[in-house]
Parts: sequence; C-alpha cells; structure tokens
Amino acid sequence: MASLPASTQQLAITAFGEANTLQIQTSALSEPQDNQVMVAVDFSSVNPIDAKTRAGLGWAAAQNKENLPWVPGYDIAGHVVAIGDNVTHLVVGERVSGFIGFPLQAGAYSQYVNVEAADLSILPDNVSLQVAASLPLAGQTAWQALEKVKVKASDRVLILAGAGGVGHIAVQLAVALQATVFATGSADNKAFIEQLGATAIDYRCGEIANQIEPVDILIDLMGGDVGMAALMSVKSGGRVVTIPTMTAEQVCQQAQSLGLEATGMLVSPTVEQNNTMLEMVAKGQLNVEVAAIYPLADGDKAHQQIESGRTRGKILLAVNNA
Ligand SMILES: NC(=O)c1ccc[n+]([C@@H]2O[C@H](COP(=O)([O-])OP(=O)(O)OC[C@H]3O[C@@H](n4cnc5c(N)ncnc54)[C@H](OP(=O)(O)O)[C@@H]3O)[C@@H](O)[C@H]2O)c1
Repeated sequence: MASLPASTQQLAITAFGEANTLQIQTSALSEPQDNQVMVAVDFSSVNPIDAKTRAGLGWAAAQNKENLPWVPGYDIAGHVVAIGDNVTHLVVGERVSGFIGFPLQAGAYSQYVNVEAADLSILPDNVSLQVAASLPLAGQTAWQALEKVKVKASDRVLILAGAGGVGHIAVQLAVALQATVFATGSADNKAFIEQLGATAIDYRCGEIANQIEPVDILIDLMGGDVGMAALMSVKSGGRVVTIPTMTAEQVCQQAQSLGLEATGMLVSPTVEQNNTMLEMVAKGQLNVEVAAIYPLADGDKAHQQIESGRTRGKILLAVNNA
C-alpha cells in the first residue's frame, strides 16, 4: 500500500481580524481511527460563517478564541485515501462529500482530513466534486429552513437573498414542493432567480410589501433590518424562519409582536439530506451554481468575496491541487 501523508497543508485563522489573517500552515496528520476514513479534499466551500468567525464574530469565534490558529470550513468533497478499522461501506478512491466538524471543530480548509465514515455521502457518478463541495452546509440549511416552517404545495413563500448560497437551493426545494415562490435579489440576479422557478423581487425597488400580495411564509436569509422590514409582507398568523443567528432573537421578537409565528435555527448536519440532494442533482432536479473557485492560498480573496454579500450561488476553494 502507498504510504499515507504524514502532514497536511491547511489554511488557518491565525488571529481574529481581516482576511489577511488567513495563513497556510502545515500540520501533522495521524492515520484514520476506527470508523474513520482519510479524505484527500479536492474542494471545500466558503460560507459566510467562516468569514464571520475569522472576524471574531459569533459563537464559533467565542468558543475558539483560545484555540488559534484554527482551521475553518465545514464542506468537503474529495477522494478516500485510507480507511480505518470497522469501515465497510467505503473503499480507497471513492468520491465522497460531507458536512464536517460543525460548528466548533471545522477544519475543511485542509488538504487531508480524517472524518467519521458515517458522516460522508458517496457521490453519484455524474455529480462533480465542485457541486458536491457546494452542497452540504448550504443545502442542508435550505432543507431544514423549509422543514421548520412546513412549506407545502400552494403556500406563498418569500425567500430573502434568493440568489445566494442557501437561497438558490431553498428556492428550488420550495418550487419542488409546489409552493409559489418569491425571492429577493438585485436586478443583476433577476434572470437567475426566475430561472430557478421563483418570481424575482428587486429589493432596491422599494418595500417588498408594496411589490407583492402577502405571503404565508418568510424564509429570512438576511436578518437584521432587512429581515424585520420583510415581516410586513407576511399574512397575519404566517410563519417565519430567520436564519442569520446573530439577529434571530431581534427578528423573532418583532415577528411575534406582529402576530407571526417565528423561529431561528442552527443547521444540523444530516447525511441523509445530503444524499437526497446529491440524487436530485444527479437526476437534474436541483442545480447548484458555482460562482468562483479560488486556490487554497487565495482564501483571503474568497473571504473578501463572501463578505461582499453579493455572491451568486457558492464559492469554492480548490484544495488538494492548490
Ligand atoms: N443558522 C444557520 O445554521 C445558518 C446556516 C447557513 C447560513 N446562515 C446565514 O444565512 C445567511 C445567508 O447565507 P448564504 O450562504 O446564503 O449567504 P450568501 O451566499 O453570502 O448570500 C449572498 C446573496 O445575498 C443577496 N443579497 C445581498 N443583499 C441583499 C438584500 N438587501 N436583499 C436581498 N438579497 C440580498 C445577494 O444578492 P444580490 O447580489 O442580488 O444583492 C447574494 O446573492 C448568512 O447570514 C449566513 O451566515 C446561517
């Protein structure tokens, strides 16, 4: 058997601050433990939480402040290179993806990771590693948000930031449930949102409540003032899920004062949901947009891009071939 790598390159947060605090480091790598496999990561995706944590914001930053340098990233797609004891359903060379280490451990910005085999999905042949790396965190957030507010056929659903990483998947899942979907975005994303099956609402053209008839459900991917303003578009007794955790309490209080049912949520890694969405991609029922791919060493640029708040779909880090 070829010898296993004894070290891995990683992109780490060396101090809380700007994107230039991300630095490449080399770390020792152990063999996979029982029930684990070692994955050579081809692509990892960048999520807003990675940049917020790097800036020192939120719970993952608070919990890891004594633990820097800390390697961010939760989404991986790559190839199995070694198998620990008790793993029977994966073989070396298999293409896999997963949502790993959420929320405290992270570590996906790494060339190699040891992961619980049960946390990985096997990729259908016609699903690319790029798409597979884009899907876990964003897709499961979209899925679980729709579940929280029980989206069903004929519901009128408003999704804020429908062109973003989570939003573009949430739009398609809601359309697949036969809901009538409205999604906000800038004029630049109108055609993209409409191609996903929603009616596009340009948030720069005045209050959303003045642009559409009231909806049954709001899926708020913006939070803060934008999320609170959108509550005016929801019917009395309607349901709201607000996804950005930092403003969830505020948005929920405001929603409840308006007679709406409101909740925040924290995504929970669920391999079955990843498997189902990979199958949907394989069958052409779900499209995942990859806006840009940066080499691992340019992770600072990827963070600046995600912090712009203007990403269409997902951005990736090309890891193992960096
Ligand atoms: N609670 C959880 O478990 C959880 C999980 C995942 C994500 N999140 C949070 O959910 C939020 C969304 O995540 P994401 O990955 O989808 O973000 P993202 O990909 O960065 O979202 C970017 C999108 O936001 C749109 N946008 C910017 N300003 C807007 C506005 N005023 N109104 C409507 N759309 C606007 C942009 O469209 P234009 O370019 O057209 O403006 C862009 O397409 C983030 O805050 C993230 O941290 C929370």
